[in-house]
Amino acid sequence: MTSYRQRIKYIHHGRIVELGAVDPTMTLLNYLRYEKALTGTKEGCAEGDCGACTVVLGEAGEDGIRYQAVNACIQFLPTIDGKELITVEDLKDEDGALHPVQQAMVEANATQCGFCTPGFVMSIFADMHNGATTDRQHIDDVLAGNLCRCTGYGPIVEAARNIAGAGTKDHFHEREGETLSLLKRLAAEDTLHFTWQGRHYYAPDTVEELADILDRHPDATLVAGATDVGLWITKQHRTLPVVVYLGKVTALQKITQTAEGLLIGAGVTYSAAWPTLSDFHPDLGELVRRIASTQIRNCGTIGGNIANGSPIGDMPPALIALNSRLRVRSKAGVREIPLEEFFIDYGKQDLREGEFVETVFIPVPAVGAHFATYKISKRFDQDISALCGAMSLYLEKSIVADIRICFGGMAGTPKRATTVETALIGKSWDTATLDIALNRMGEDYAPLSDMRASREYRLLAAKNLLRKFLIETTDSGTATRIVGVKGIAHA
Ligand SMILES: Cc1cc2nc3c(=O)[nH]c(=O)nc-3n(C[C@H](O)[C@H](O)[C@H](O)COP(=O)(O)OP(=O)(O)OC[C@H]3O[C@@H](n4cnc5c(N)ncnc54)[C@H](O)[C@@H]3O)c2cc1C
Ligand code: FES
Ligand code: FES
Repeated sequence: MTSYRQRIKYIHHGRIVELGAVDPTMTLLNYLRYEKALTGTKEGCAEGDCGACTVVLGEAGEDGIRYQAVNACIQFLPTIDGKELITVEDLKDEDGALHPVQQAMVEANATQCGFCTPGFVMSIFADMHNGATTDRQHIDDVLAGNLCRCTGYGPIVEAARNIAGAGTKDHFHEREGETLSLLKRLAAEDTLHFTWQGRHYYAPDTVEELADILDRHPDATLVAGATDVGLWITKQHRTLPVVVYLGKVTALQKITQTAEGLLIGAGVTYSAAWPTLSDFHPDLGELVRRIASTQIRNCGTIGGNIANGSPIGDMPPALIALNSRLRVRSKAGVREIPLEEFFIDYGKQDLREGEFVETVFIPVPAVGAHFATYKISKRFDQDISALCGAMSLYLEKSIVADIRICFGGMAGTPKRATTVETALIGKSWDTATLDIALNRMGEDYAPLSDMRASREYRLLAAKNLLRKFLIETTDSGTATRIVGVKGIAHA
């Protein structure tokens, strides 16, 4: 029998703060600004795009505290339970001296109207505590989730580079040991569950507890990173009667690498999965880089990207092309299904009452298999795909022995191009065969026109991505697409 704790506990200013029941979906931003009068954290968009609301959360990691920038506007207050909260007001020294990141911003003239500045400062602060480097790509990745209308970014990048190069220490480093022991103390607390005005909030620790709660509350809304669900509150003003937060379910946060493949827990965030996915195949790493921003990647999960059933989610096409399998669990037990079968129709997934997504398994492709995934969006950073394609190919003496092609943004679900695949299997992998097969792509897809792309653009781009894949996997191209899974023996 689970014993529940009803008070939220988090660390702020080196002390544990306790709160009684609150609105389960009150955003962290509203709490800071309206309840705590901490107005340094700004609201720009209230949908995770602009970064003006960036705060940093600290959690106990393997080698000390792991600091992560997040968007306070779409994070729910109770989800900071057990973590350290750092806002821009906390950065200055006790004597009022500016934090090194703030000083670097001043010295680089990196602020004009100042509205975006606290958000940039917090992103650079988190990076400084995560082994910042002066590499331009790295700095761009760190800052892609912060928008500025005034500066043109150059001085801000310079401030970030100066801090990264300086190996700076601050008062958070000084009291890290103390904070870490508080974090460990909070980690040992009972499961959080409270009721506020008839609405429930649960944060179970185990999959069994989670299954049990869902059995009692089949109407519950699961919340992993809240990068989708958060917008249901801030933009659609929805009321959720039962919220079940997955961030504390340890088993869901694990990645296990075996000789057979990669087993990824549904609660693994993009940031946590990034190094392993990059090792599995560089394209998967690049795909993760192109998903949203650092703040969103620190919260958003692979399980959430699958479970939301979006036809334009970036992970499903790649995972389907790699023949991944999904495990779903409920109190009644577990089921395994090929990932592609999970997506039944637009907005309809194969998830029964009381079930949740537990893991996704990516099998190691055969030796010599090729793989690629390509994202097409209007902007490089922080943009949703117009279409996203992935292909895995196995050739025997230049003959297509196996090919799996999957696109997002081309139908109501992520969908395989089975007609094109069939037209290719057993044939020579060359331009003539591909052109014939591509003539049949209209049998696989009837894409829509919307604000991201027209129907014609989507069809043409999808065909051209396959042509690109052909070039990249044959001698006429660079043939760079062979799957090289570091640390895993090929099947
Ligand atoms: C600014 C911004 C940019 C974005 N950019 C991209 C992008 O480039 N590419 C992209 O693909 N997506 C993007 N997204 C969408 C979003 O970040 C992803 O879909 C993310 O993976 C969702 O994961 P989450 O953990 O935040 O899910 P949540 O918001 O917590 O949940 C999403 C849905 O999945 C359900 N759910 C979550 N976990 C489970 C589970 N284990 N079992 C069953 N149901 C579950 C929830 O109930 C909810 O219905 C963006 C979002 C924002 C706000
Ligand atoms: S207010 Fe724009 S990202 Fe939060
Ligand atoms: S300084 Fe004005 S928005 Fe950035």
